[in-house]
Amino acid sequence: MGVLVSGRGSNLQALLDACVGDFPARVACVISNVPGAHALVRAGLAGVPAVVLPHSGRDRATYDAELRAALANHGVLPGSGIVCLAGFMRVLGPAFLEGWPVINVHPALLPAFPGLHGPRQALAGGVTQAGATVHLVDGGVDTGPILGQATVPVLPDDTEETLSARILPFEHRLFVQGLRQVAEGRVVVEGHRARIDLRPGESRWLGAP
Ligand code: GRF
Repeated sequence: MGVLVSGRGSNLQALLDACVGDFPARVACVISNVPGAHALVRAGLAGVPAVVLPHSGRDRATYDAELRAALANHGVLPGSGIVCLAGFMRVLGPAFLEGWPVINVHPALLPAFPGLHGPRQALAGGVTQAGATVHLVDGGVDTGPILGQATVPVLPDDTEETLSARILPFEHRLFVQGLRQVAEGRVVVEGHRARIDLRPGESRWLGAP
């Protein structure tokens, strides 16, 4: 699989840490649209090829084609490859999505609070529960079929930082689980709904104790 990143790379790290032993996927390359993203350091430490592909000055179709070419250069190909968006802060067009599963993690309980700053939106919305969602990517922004979700409480004194920090470990767990399910061919999409052949001990919902 190829992992697309833009920043810190904690979700990338969760995937790198999971992809050992009999885990059914390996990270073939990490591509960042942001030069200097810390995720690139993580890729280097893990011995995984890291590519910087800035999007500035390109229209969406051109950039998406460059991304597909970079993935292909590292053996991530339609039909067999998987693409993971691990904090990748760019929308991908339909031509990019064709031919392989694309998995995204989002720090909110979709369909609530899509787009930027999920935890900030949750606080502003006054909700009592926030969370994380891992989903397949379709043509929209955070709209694709949901693979798994986790809920965490919103506490009275929460800031965007404290709420984000409570959500983040669940992003990591959900992402690894969703990737495994996709890589093992256990996900079938019917309409907008993902059907998953769950293994013993797996749940599509994770909650804080
Ligand atoms: C995560 O909260 C992710 O859900 C959001 O951006 C953040 C990226 O964190 N899209 P990291 O780079 O994986 O640490």
